[in-house]
Amino acid sequence: MPIDTRPGIPRAAVKNDRLIRALLRRPLDATPIWLMRQAGRYLPEYRETRRRAGDFMTLCKTPDLACEVTLQPIERFALDAAILFSDILTIPDAMGLGLSVQEGVGPRFERPVRSAAEIRALGVPDPEDRLRYVMDAVRQSRQALAGRVPLIGFAGSPWTLATYMVEGGSGRDFRRVKGLMFEAPRLLHELLDKLARAVTAYLKAQAEAGAQVLMVFDTWGGVLSTHAYEEFSLRYLAEVVAGVKAAPAPPPVILFTKGGAGWIEPIAVTGCEAVGLDWTQDLAATRRRVGHRVALQGNLDPLALYAPPERIRAEVSTLLSSFGTGSGHVFNLGHGIEPDTDPEHVRVLVDAVHELSVPYHSGVEPSGVEPCRVE
Ligand code: CP3
Repeated sequence: MPIDTRPGIPRAAVKNDRLIRALLRRPLDATPIWLMRQAGRYLPEYRETRRRAGDFMTLCKTPDLACEVTLQPIERFALDAAILFSDILTIPDAMGLGLSVQEGVGPRFERPVRSAAEIRALGVPDPEDRLRYVMDAVRQSRQALAGRVPLIGFAGSPWTLATYMVEGGSGRDFRRVKGLMFEAPRLLHELLDKLARAVTAYLKAQAEAGAQVLMVFDTWGGVLSTHAYEEFSLRYLAEVVAGVKAAPAPPPVILFTKGGAGWIEPIAVTGCEAVGLDWTQDLAATRRRVGHRVALQGNLDPLALYAPPERIRAEVSTLLSSFGTGSGHVFNLGHGIEPDTDPEHVRVLVDAVHELSVPYHSGVEPSGVEPCRVE
């Protein structure tokens, strides 16, 4: 029977509820799949819509177009979720840093923040004001999906946003933000505290606008030492989860720290429902460590999609058997899909996950234990 985690929504609000079932580790018929950056440059229809928009930020800021792009991969493939088309850098943009995203250059801020005065001058944006275009895109996408699959809303982690805001774009060695971390840690904490409040308000507003699952991308947590990760990233991830969970009927939350293999246990006790894994992590071992607490999302190497179809199916089979029987696995890539991926290979992947996962959801556990508990 279809389920929805939000009591205000009729039970039939999501026709395909595999993602929500897997996140809550409830029995289901097949493993759900969606892909990070599933709406993006590998799809010719995305490139066409972006061309019409003129540039990436106009695409993000025009709810009709953002909604159109959100639905493109859902129209083409049997994916089990839609992810809002937007970007993690909308928050710093709304804080006044002046974002532009250029092909081949990546994101750039006109006004990066580095000094105490610049950090203290930042405000926490009201999501229904300067970020209203994102909330409108959520409302429109939710309506256009008409309950076919759940809609995932998202934000960047405070630490990951801080790296872009301090570096002024995509840094290579994180010299500036790490400089702040070692030389003025209290100032960095001021920035992270502000960002945690901004991210929490933004995610709550997305849930109110209709996002049924929330994901936090901590793309650059993995560049930190273990103790710096705890102090500068994990602590703020936990604050965001606690803030989101303080709302009535909060949606399930997925946390993803790229390069976070060593920190899965502390991530799993933040109160999130699921932990995203990059491709370097072993699904079976991770399930043994934390599978009784959280669901796991991942973790095919995105470059596996360059391989011929038979090899893609073999990789799917290896990952499914690594997770094993029962609910609690959301199939995904270990990071975003590459722009030159062949869309037909994505079809092979999606169909293989559905077809090959059925035997893992027969409901009959060989050992007779709860499907999601593995010792
Ligand atoms: O997953 C989806 O389909 C939803 C849309 C989405 C985008 N960015 C669209 C996008 C999501 C979830 C993001 C998150 C995001 N953005 C992250 C976290 C995830 C990750 O990849 O680690 C980060 C770090 C960013 C910041 C960002 N935005 C970068 C580094 C870039 C340049 C990337 C590149 O390959 O050029 C962007 C731009 C961006 N965001 C694109 C897309 C589809 C490409 C821009 C274009 O169309 O020209």
